[in-house]
Amino acid sequence: MIELSRPVVVAPMAGGPSTVALVVEAARAGGLGFLAAGYKTPDATAREVAAARAAGVPFGLNIFVPDTTPADADDVAKYRTRLERDHGPLPEPPLADDDHFAEKLRIAAGVPYVSFTFGLPPADAVAGLRAAGSTVLITVTTPGEARRALAFGPDALVAQAGTAGGHSGTYDPAGHDGSGTAIELLRDVPRTVPVVAAGGTGTAADVRALLDAGATAVQAGTAFLLADEAGTRAAHRAALTEGRETVVTRAFTGRPARALRNRFTDAYGPYAPLAYPAVHHLTAPIRAAAAARGDAESINLWAGTAHADARPGPAGEILRTLAGCN
Ligand SMILES: Cc1cc2nc3c(=O)[nH]c(=O)nc-3n(C[C@H](O)[C@H](O)[C@H](O)COP(=O)(O)O)c2cc1C
Repeated sequence: MIELSRPVVVAPMAGGPSTVALVVEAARAGGLGFLAAGYKTPDATAREVAAARAAGVPFGLNIFVPDTTPADADDVAKYRTRLERDHGPLPEPPLADDDHFAEKLRIAAGVPYVSFTFGLPPADAVAGLRAAGSTVLITVTTPGEARRALAFGPDALVAQAGTAGGHSGTYDPAGHDGSGTAIELLRDVPRTVPVVAAGGTGTAADVRALLDAGATAVQAGTAFLLADEAGTRAAHRAALTEGRETVVTRAFTGRPARALRNRFTDAYGPYAPLAYPAVHHLTAPIRAAAAARGDAESINLWAGTAHADARPGPAGEILRTLAGCN
């Protein structure tokens, strides 16, 4: 069901790094890549799916499961005031949105692999996608989440550890502290379906250790951020080579994510409310302006703990190296 000649999965990376070219090259190298539907319009998502289909290779699509509970307006307003002191007036953000979940589910029908993060998709969505021929994966971050996800009948789990770069898929953002390695999580999750291990893998030895511990495949994100085919911004690429440490922060989006430490995580991390996606929308103009001027200090530099191992080059070469082929 997940049979790859090289058991390495290029993680979905919303916000720019994931591209059709990255996903196609992953498949051509014998692995698998996921397109990232997160934040995209349904049209843009459908165009990427069509382009990947046209390339004639297996590929996946990753979808955010929305939490439609509106954020606390007072918490968001206080955070907005704090940001405005340094960054000037910011538009009032929407307190909730569902990232076009229903439309993205429709687009996903029949895509070879579909993965979910941030929560449990509706049970009928899992069944519907499987009936349409998709292999369905649900992201989990604890054994308890794994047990809950298994009740929804997925084909496989993505077990994402605290070491992982980017947002945690945790179902309990308040309780996430970024602790725990992929090996530890893999040991503890039920393995009644194949498990794809994710988090903190930068070398072939990291990948080998997870496969030896029973992972069906290893999903890596940060290791591909410097790939030629990745859409990673220039300032993010540069920061990855500067030897920074990583922190778990909700400063950018209101949901815990692992990022390279910068001025923004230091200044606002302690004050950011748990209010995703309201805080994502609130900080978007600050991040866009910083990216335009190449300023790494105010953009979300998502990265996992193994970021120092990331190397530039063609994605296929990076994948083959991780799979132990070079
Ligand atoms: C820049 C970036 C963006 C990410 N975006 C997504 C996403 O859209 N959906 C998702 O399920 N995971 C996302 N992740 C998490 C990855 O799926 C994966 O769990 C993580 O990259 C594994 O840890 P590593 O970065 O240490 O390899 C992202 C990770 C990074 C680094």
